[in-house]
Parts: sequence; structure tokens; C-alpha cells
Amino acid sequence: MAKQIITLTVNGDEHELAVAPYQTLLEVLRDELDLIGTKRGCTAGSCGVCTVNGEQGEAVLSCCTLAVDWNGRSVTTVEGVQEGTELHPIQKKFLEHGAVQCGFCTPGLVMSAKALLDVNTSPTERDINEAMAGAICRCTGHIKVKIAIREAAKALREREGAG
Ligand code: FES
Ligand code: FES
Repeated sequence: MAKQIITLTVNGDEHELAVAPYQTLLEVLRDELDLIGTKRGCTAGSCGVCTVNGEQGEAVLSCCTLAVDWNGRSVTTVEGVQEGTELHPIQKKFLEHGAVQCGFCTPGLVMSAKALLDVNTSPTERDINEAMAGAICRCTGHIKVKIAIREAAKALREREGAG
């Protein structure tokens, strides 16, 4: 099948790519751009490990999204979350609170949490549950993940207050 040239901006870098019409955003990120932080799990929209952030910061399941539909658009992956040489507060709190075990789900969890905290640094328990509903971790039991998200929200509020 004929490939189509698309322009895709990933973590601020613009790429021109030849993609097949059936290739997913996940396949392009991992297999064409070597951005393997975004994980390949169920590839069916059920586990959330492939979550990236779209142009408005929204959570996007990259396994269920065709790359051709992202022509001319921007995406942020877990490789683009770090702030300079510093980890993002979400990443720091995941580490501090033991929300990372095998780590396979962690990029998806971080991107789901970021989609929430970018627009809401005072999330309720319900907000967190809703934002993280599609992001599954088989190791942590999710309690430590929720603690880390609450602590990251607090850190972000403090930063906003100091800014
Ligand atoms: S790999 Fe995308 S939801 Fe599971
Ligand atoms: S840390 Fe292992 S699946 Fe989440």
C-alpha cells in the first residue's frame, strides 16, 4: 500500500515521515523514531501503556490512533516530559513514593497523570480515578500511584504559588 508523507512534531522536534495508511502512532513513535519509552501492550485500547499527550495535553492512546491522522500535529511522549536536566514533578513523586516497580506501565501512567495535572492541580479523588481509569499497572496496586499523583499535584501547586 502506498505510503504517505506526514509531518509530525514530537517533543518539539518536527519530523517528515513516510507512513503506511495502517500504521499507528505507536508504531511510528517506536519503530520509526526509536522513541521506545511509549510502550506496546495490548494494542487494543485496554491497558493504557501506550498513552501520549496530544496538542492540548490530552491523553491519547497511540495504539488506537492512525499516524496519518496526526499529519501536521504535535505529540508529547514520556521522553519529552523531563524539564531540562530535572525530572518532572510527576516523575519525581512516582520515584519517591514507590509508584514504579517493573516500570512497564510507568510511561503511560505518567502521561495520563500529566494530562490531568496540566489542567487541574487540585484534583479530587474522583478526578484522579477518572483520569487514570484506562491506565493499568499490574505491580503497584495503584495506591502508590494515587499517592504520587496527589503529591505531584501539591508540588505543582507550590510551584504555581511561588511563580
Ligand atoms: S497498548 Fe494501547 S491501550 Fe494497550
Ligand atoms: S510497575 Fe509494573 S506494571 Fe506497573
